[in-house]
Amino acid sequence: MSLNVIPKPNTVEYHGGYVWLDENEVTYKTNEHYPDEYYCIEITKGETIITTRGEKGKYYANLTLKQLDECGKAPICKITDLPAFSYRGFMIDSARHMQTIPEIKAYIEAAARYKMNTFHWHLCDDQGWRIESEKYPELNEIGSFRNGWGFGNPDTSKYGGYYTKKEIKEVIDFCHERFIDVVPEIDMPGHTTSIIATYPELSCRGERIDVKLEGGIFRDILCAGNDAVFDFCYGLLDEVIELFPDECIHIGGDEAPKARWCNCPKCQERIRVEALRDEEELQGWFANKIIAYLEAKGKKVLAWNESLNSGILNNNTIICDWMDKNHKSEEYANRGGKIIVEDFYHYYLDYEYGMTPLKKTYEYNPYLPDLDFTGRQNVLGVEAPIWTEYVEDFDRMSYMCFPRLIAVAESGWTNEKNKNYNDFRARVKNQKDYLLSLGIKMADEAAWDPGLNVRRKVMTDRLKSILNPAMISVTLFPNKDED
Ligand code: ACM
Ligand code: ZN
Repeated sequence: MSLNVIPKPNTVEYHGGYVWLDENEVTYKTNEHYPDEYYCIEITKGETIITTRGEKGKYYANLTLKQLDECGKAPICKITDLPAFSYRGFMIDSARHMQTIPEIKAYIEAAARYKMNTFHWHLCDDQGWRIESEKYPELNEIGSFRNGWGFGNPDTSKYGGYYTKKEIKEVIDFCHERFIDVVPEIDMPGHTTSIIATYPELSCRGERIDVKLEGGIFRDILCAGNDAVFDFCYGLLDEVIELFPDECIHIGGDEAPKARWCNCPKCQERIRVEALRDEEELQGWFANKIIAYLEAKGKKVLAWNESLNSGILNNNTIICDWMDKNHKSEEYANRGGKIIVEDFYHYYLDYEYGMTPLKKTYEYNPYLPDLDFTGRQNVLGVEAPIWTEYVEDFDRMSYMCFPRLIAVAESGWTNEKNKNYNDFRARVKNQKDYLLSLGIKMADEAAWDPGLNVRRKVMTDRLKSILNPAMISVTLFPNKDED
């Protein structure tokens, strides 16, 4: 027997028989010894008793009860439930394509229903800056717009915009009402074309460049040898901290080619003065300076796994493991560092079902192969990003993310031993109408686990689409200084 609840509760004792839930009186009790996210629901004839430490557990208990209530009739049982992981995140890329505030809220509402608790908001990248800035208004005038829709679209009208502080606060409040923290990402030193297009003097060459119209990895990054770059970053982060009150800030650190740093007198002087080994260590030094600044303001910092390549990263940093062929995240966790798993091959929701079928996403558990006993304790949880280079509207986003986001949510909450794919599939089918009520059109069941022929074709098409010369050049020769 399985309850029609997602994520699947961890312990259910059945006591025989059924009740109509709406005929039951609900009583709330508290127990200060329980963990924050724990809840206990006892359904008896005539009464439903919910016991939690406080409001958060009560919120999760009611989410479970609401899903049970959609069938009206519930088994007489006792549910005791606690999440497998403390971090259960979803990331939305609003830089490549923007979503409207109601669309973002609909996505959050769905993630909340499945007991996710962190919204990582990717708000700036090479293709656009999306936060209103009063301190640097030019970021909104220049960095927030590109000369066309981009990503291969022929449209030449300007594309872009940004979220006002009022809108961002509205989203944060909406999250907090659902016990969701908001982690803004300010990616640096790479993926900063929208900043450099606004302030070319912050790059090594100081040349004017445009906000990008295509995806990829770009060589112009923030200059690590220029003190003005740090003054700018600190000023910007002060404004971000004021807007985003939760504890964590993500500082990116992914995909930063070193070509410009290799040829920049200021960066080379920095390496000499700080006695750094090379440009990779310079990135670690850059990150550590920003982290020290944020820590002094009481913040915890998240960064993508490339930040570990320097070997000198501040070990309070929470590492977001997405693509780590050298297993540095595992070494980091084994040494005591905290990590969040957002594995590219399983949790990147912008890749077709042909590449990442629902079953593959569901059956993945975030215990990376080289983790030892200590390392496993240091996995804080899971996160699923939706990158939006090729996700232009909310219908596409809904199709790509649902039901795969729900699978990630269940892996974040339900213990590995309680997961079962066929059981999950049966429960997830029932989510269609609820999601539709939020404006989310979940992918049809036929799309979830394509056969081998479809998978082969999708993988070949995808490979062709990413084999663009600019990408190959930066990937194979990241230190070669060419345009
Ligand atoms: C990433 O996908 N560049 C984190
Ligand atoms: Zn430089």
